[in-house]
Amino acid sequence: MTAPPPTATVGVLGGGQLGRMLALAGAPLGIRCIGVEPAADPPMAVAAEVLRAPYDDPAALAELARRCDVVTIEVEHVPVDALAWLAERLVVRPSPQVVAVTQDRWLEKQAFVRLGIATAPFARPDEQTSGFETGSIVKRRLGGFDGRGQVRLERAASPRALAAAVTELGGGCVVEGVVPFERELSLVAARAADGAVACYPLVENRHRDGILRETLAPAPGAGAAATLSASAVEMVTTFMADLDHVGVLALELFEVNGRLLANEVAPRVHNSGHWTIEGATTSQFEQHLRAVAGLPLGAAAPRGPAAMVNVIGTEPEPGAVLAVAGAHLHRYGKAPRPDRKLGHVTVVAADERERDARLDELRALVGVSAST
Ligand SMILES: Nc1ncnc2c1ncn2[C@@H]1O[C@H](COP(=O)(O)OP(=O)(O)O)[C@@H](O)[C@H]1O
Ligand SMILES: [Mg+2]
Repeated sequence: MTAPPPTATVGVLGGGQLGRMLALAGAPLGIRCIGVEPAADPPMAVAAEVLRAPYDDPAALAELARRCDVVTIEVEHVPVDALAWLAERLVVRPSPQVVAVTQDRWLEKQAFVRLGIATAPFARPDEQTSGFETGSIVKRRLGGFDGRGQVRLERAASPRALAAAVTELGGGCVVEGVVPFERELSLVAARAADGAVACYPLVENRHRDGILRETLAPAPGAGAAATLSASAVEMVTTFMADLDHVGVLALELFEVNGRLLANEVAPRVHNSGHWTIEGATTSQFEQHLRAVAGLPLGAAAPRGPAAMVNVIGTEPEPGAVLAVAGAHLHRYGKAPRPDRKLGHVTVVAADERERDARLDELRALVGVSAST
């Protein structure tokens, strides 16, 4: 008898819901994931072994190096040194360099500028004599998420106000001009080690209080979106190729006056790609595992108009959500807390009208959270 093809073991720094969905997607392929997560009750633990340790714990990293074929991340705020240590011993995707650039807003913006990728006006806080005319957002270079680590200032804020915001955020900031965008979009894409690229359709994201609430896939407004789409694909492809990124990557965008401005990049599976679990031929989670494990990428085509609604703060009655035609509920097993992402619901429909009707039903059930 011939031996079965080998099973890839993928180490994952992080053990949150993204790690959980990676592990769930890996199971049918025979890919096993091992997470590393210091926080209590890691959502990933339902589907994978999770080493309970800090991301740079020497023993945990040594265990990953010993047991895994490749290491990836599900959160970009991991110590780059830990990834560099691993990269000397096994394949790390994304590379420490990609993580170093994308976890630091300043370096990321420098990369946008260098690559000719249009982005919001920005400056170092001390470069500014006064804030931007449209208003300013002071953001921490490192560690922010879901709108945390940011302070919004009125138009033409004084140097004192800027300095106070930086102090409030603990230093290490970048100032951006407020973009008067029409809407927010994102492009989730994957790149394989041989340079092959697969892009999901451009999607529309609706945020409230800096937190993603809903994604519509593909982004409504097909005509306009075709040129926007091409521009987003160009940006993401350029960025991934330049940094030799391997795996899934998400580019968050603002649409303003029919143009796209890059907001930020996440070198990992992304909340705005959750609709792909039921809404695309290959989910972003399977796609990421395929890419990092050196397997061929899958098709990224949508199955139909889809939407995703985040469950934030409090959970709806599962039965009520599942009573909505075409709805799929994904719960993360997390304790409820205001503004915490606890799960999401996806829906795929035959046409946009049906999708929108189902989305309305879902909004009534989950769109209203304790945070508002
Ligand atoms: N320059 C900007 N102009 C207008 N809105 C912005 C700007 N930067 C961020 N925002 C708003 O805040 C949200 C969160 O900011 P973002 O930079 O994406 O940080 P996070 O890492 O928290 O997602 C964005 O999705 C957008 O709604
Ligand atoms: Mg963002």
